[in-house]
Amino acid sequence: MEDRVYIFDTTLRDGEQSPGVALNVMEKLEIGHALVDLGVDVIEAGFPISSPGDFESVSTLSRELRGVTICGLTRAKREDIECAGEALKPAERPRIHTGLGVSDQHLEHKLRMSRDQALEVGVNAVKLAKQFTDDVEYFMEDSGRADPQYVYRVVEAVIDAGATVINVPDTTGYTFPTEYMALIRGIIENVPNSDKATFSCHCHNDLGMATANTLAGVVGGARQVEVTVNGIGERAGNTALEEVVTAFAIRKDFFNVSTNIKLAKLMDISRLVSRLTGMMVQRNKAVVGANAYAHSSGIHQDGVLKDRLNYEIIAPELVGAARSEIILTARSGRHGVKHRLAEMGFSFTDDRFERIYEGFLRVADTKKEVTEDDLKELVDTVK
Ligand code: KIV
Ligand code: ZN
Repeated sequence: MEDRVYIFDTTLRDGEQSPGVALNVMEKLEIGHALVDLGVDVIEAGFPISSPGDFESVSTLSRELRGVTICGLTRAKREDIECAGEALKPAERPRIHTGLGVSDQHLEHKLRMSRDQALEVGVNAVKLAKQFTDDVEYFMEDSGRADPQYVYRVVEAVIDAGATVINVPDTTGYTFPTEYMALIRGIIENVPNSDKATFSCHCHNDLGMATANTLAGVVGGARQVEVTVNGIGERAGNTALEEVVTAFAIRKDFFNVSTNIKLAKLMDISRLVSRLTGMMVQRNKAVVGANAYAHSSGIHQDGVLKDRLNYEIIAPELVGAARSEIILTARSGRHGVKHRLAEMGFSFTDDRFERIYEGFLRVADTKKEVTEDDLKELVDTVK
């Protein structure tokens, strides 16, 4: 039996923390509706105490969206939790996400608390949050650099206090997949009450490991993943939603987990988030980049035209992308050029095609890409 992995989307909170991004309430609502259609389980709609705009966003999404959990972030402070409780009031399924740091770096140089003091503050935050909702998630900021023995103590105490989801953030993107997997596995195996909570991966991409770490966390036993569309977020960003859910689908043999995500909507939501945030998706981005299904070299074009599976592990239509493209460049071979000409409705004798192909190579040497207009001109002029 495959296990369900819950998709916690934080595009509107951690994603919106990307430098230069600011979404207004209506834009957040539009993305919120798209996330519901996509099938995410939880939408982290904002950090209510951080600004009146964030409060309004959390409360508007709580009122307007149904069939999804709406989550508000708080520090482990009374005023934050009360504010989140208020903003989440209209939600069908409200969740408060509270917590504080667990690494010695954060305890000593940011929070200026001892381990015991921080543990007590965290437990009290969970107890207060429980007065507003049963669904309380606890985050242990900078878990990736923390002493696992202290992490185990915190997890046990906050579960006893009522937290039902435990977030294990690699806040600084410091860990490697085997370490992050061991961290999650270690928590589940060493904390006596770990069976009473769901463990959540929240990874940042400072070393380019966010997706790999999140997937490793799932192998280690986590059953919630915190992700953003296009991987947007603080600094180098967060784990990309589309990468994780597509990995689960393509490597079902390996993960044997399911999600509620409608993969065919991934491309549309990627474009929507890119448009509203103004953050371009890099062309070679996994799953949703413009080049993800484009083949340029002759060897690859020949292979794909013989059998797509030679070079394409993801069928573009699976994620709502346009069908694979054969890009004509100076590296393209005869097979690719003949294929594009056939798509345009042309077929030629071998001799004529050979002359057109020679003309194609001359044009290709002068341009980055040979277009259909260029091909048409060759067909008209090379007899
Ligand atoms: O990266 C992080 O630690 C966070 C927490 C606030 C959940 O975003
Ligand atoms: Zn984060």
